[in-house]
Amino acid sequence: MPLATTLVALLACVAGVLGHPSSEEDKKAYLETRSRVIAHTRRSLERCADSPEARALEERAVARRMAKAEELRAKYGLNKDKRDRQWFQHYNGLSHDMSYKGYNLNTPAKTLFSSNTTCALVPETIIGPYYVEGELIRSDITDGQKGVRAHVDYQFINIRTCKPMPDLLIDIWHCNALGVYSGVSAPGQGGLDTTYGRGVQKTDADGVVQFDTIFPGHYEGRATHIHVMSTDHARVLPNGTFEGGTVRHIGQTYFDESVIKAVEATEPYRRNPARRTTNLQDFFAGDQATPQYDPFVKHVYLGKKPQDGLLLFLSIGLDPDADYNECRTPAAHWHPGGGEDLPDPQFCNM
Ligand SMILES: *[C@@H]1O[C@H](CO)[C@@H](O)[C@H](O)[C@H]1NC(C)=O
Ligand SMILES: *[C@@H]1O[C@H](CO)[C@@H](O)[C@H](O)[C@H]1NC(C)=O
Repeated sequence: MPLATTLVALLACVAGVLGHPSSEEDKKAYLETRSRVIAHTRRSLERCADSPEARALEERAVARRMAKAEELRAKYGLNKDKRDRQWFQHYNGLSHDMSYKGYNLNTPAKTLFSSNTTCALVPETIIGPYYVEGELIRSDITDGQKGVRAHVDYQFINIRTCKPMPDLLIDIWHCNALGVYSGVSAPGQGGLDTTYGRGVQKTDADGVVQFDTIFPGHYEGRATHIHVMSTDHARVLPNGTFEGGTVRHIGQTYFDESVIKAVEATEPYRRNPARRTTNLQDFFAGDQATPQYDPFVKHVYLGKKPQDGLLLFLSIGLDPDADYNECRTPAAHWHPGGGEDLPDPQFCNM
């Protein structure tokens, strides 16, 4: 078994899939194992950074993200002012890692947008209780939800070959501005016939998917996050959904406290009565903010206020041999006109 898979398997045993480890000992073992997984994946990606192909890939990522930011600014009328041509100077969207490196408002856009500071996503196996299968392959997953517009750019890299991973089906799902999930019948959630904040995209030749959505809100007990799952060799159905395939990765992406606070101060987020959990209070995110590892999504403000929108981006390293199918435990299956609840998931045992 490849090292990453072995470590991840161990991780899954220690943590289970749905619950937090209970005893202090379990917790310690879980965190230690996870640190090893992170260190391994990070090393793998760092090795990649030096190959000519990876450099070319990075150049394209920079160009794509810059062009996207320009395009969105034009679309939302945020670049009318000539003086705003120096738009990237307004981009104080410095992630944890970027701030740590001392980047500031004068950091060139090329540096800011490059993907090699972002490392592998924590290869965790926590799918959570609200994964819904059968979601549509579509890029705009807003479904009319109110909130801060967010454009998501995730790039998937094979940590063995350092090449992008094309043709992966990427599921993402997140709650709305008030912390409510679509697609599930659990009390207080959006119901089986809703799909906001959920969708699937296929990675292109550069391993990239892009989604338009709103920045997620929060709910009791968890730090703000977006779930992401990568499925390889899936069958795309004529009706724009997919089935089958092998799950290569299940994870959650996190955001800087600064951007969360900025968004949470706006409508309708500020009306959410649930207490907010910070990244450091969140058990799953808690051990991540080290100088060695930055699991946080990079962000860039498109305008001067959060309400002008955000570009969010992250490069994610995947083990192409991983198989998490046992951990793909949907709460429901979406069908047009309403979904169906699925039986309670088994514990994921890898
Ligand atoms: C990315 O890596 C290159 C080469 O290793 C380095 O020159 C550059 O500064 C890095 N980018 C960032 C944003 O750290
Ligand atoms: C797509 O087809 C599958 C298989 O026939 C079906 O279960 C699902 O409800 C359909 N989904 C949509 C969105 O039409």
